[in-house]
Amino acid sequence: MSLPVAPTTMLRWPAEELWEALQPLCPGLSVEVATEVDSTSSRLLERARAGDASPCLLVAERQTAGRGRLGRSWEASPGASLTFSLALPLAPRAWSGLSLVAGVALAEALHERVRLKWPNDLWLVDGAGQGRKLGGILIETAQAAGGPRVAVVGVGLNIRQEAIAGETTSRASLDELESGAQAPATLLRIAAPLLRVLQAFEREGFAPWMARYAARDALAGRSIRLLQHQGGSSEGQALGVDEQGALLVQTAAGLQTITSAEVSVRPC
Ligand code: BTN
Repeated sequence: MSLPVAPTTMLRWPAEELWEALQPLCPGLSVEVATEVDSTSSRLLERARAGDASPCLLVAERQTAGRGRLGRSWEASPGASLTFSLALPLAPRAWSGLSLVAGVALAEALHERVRLKWPNDLWLVDGAGQGRKLGGILIETAQAAGGPRVAVVGVGLNIRQEAIAGETTSRASLDELESGAQAPATLLRIAAPLLRVLQAFEREGFAPWMARYAARDALAGRSIRLLQHQGGSSEGQALGVDEQGALLVQTAAGLQTITSAEVSVRPC
């Protein structure tokens, strides 16, 4: 079932077209458009924990408490960004690599210059390989009471430039690639590819995606700094990812395999 667009939204969201594109891939999926929520991901996680494991795409024009990885906040203004989450009951053999395949789907659906910074950032790169953050992916799961585990894939994508209080680094935005880019049309373009890769990941895991990830890997071959969130850092050269999607880094102490969610990676 597709819910109608809330009458007070600023933008015209193609809820019916989204539902028509997604429902054949995932029968029973609903599409919901909200003017304002705390966080699209928080809403879908709450529903799953309350026992509703039905697949759902929830897009919001404004989030009052948008969340990023590692407990960070995700700030965005209506129209200047696309913020949505996709909830899907999933039972993969292993969960590692899920944010990487989601990134591959989004990058491929967006533009050749969109690359991936392990594990969950979408970057817009220039001709010299320098990147700025275009968007981010937040993967969370919840156990539906008496039902399956539900993956909630939250996506935030900068559509237009906007000044964020306290933010010093410059963000990239999709309108640098496509003048007049709009959040609703962008969602329509990326939703089905995203859903398809999540379903393929459930069947096949990350390994079949290694080559496509490598083609979008913004870090491969670069010197990087690994920042532990408890403090401390080390440097090395990024060498791509393994079959589980873990980051391979050549350091002075040898080859390290980075799986920890408690590590941030920065190019040096
Ligand atoms: C990151 O870069 O750390 C991930 C950012 C993910 C933000 C999106 S916006 C839609 C969804 N709802 C949230 O609260 N977060 C994700």
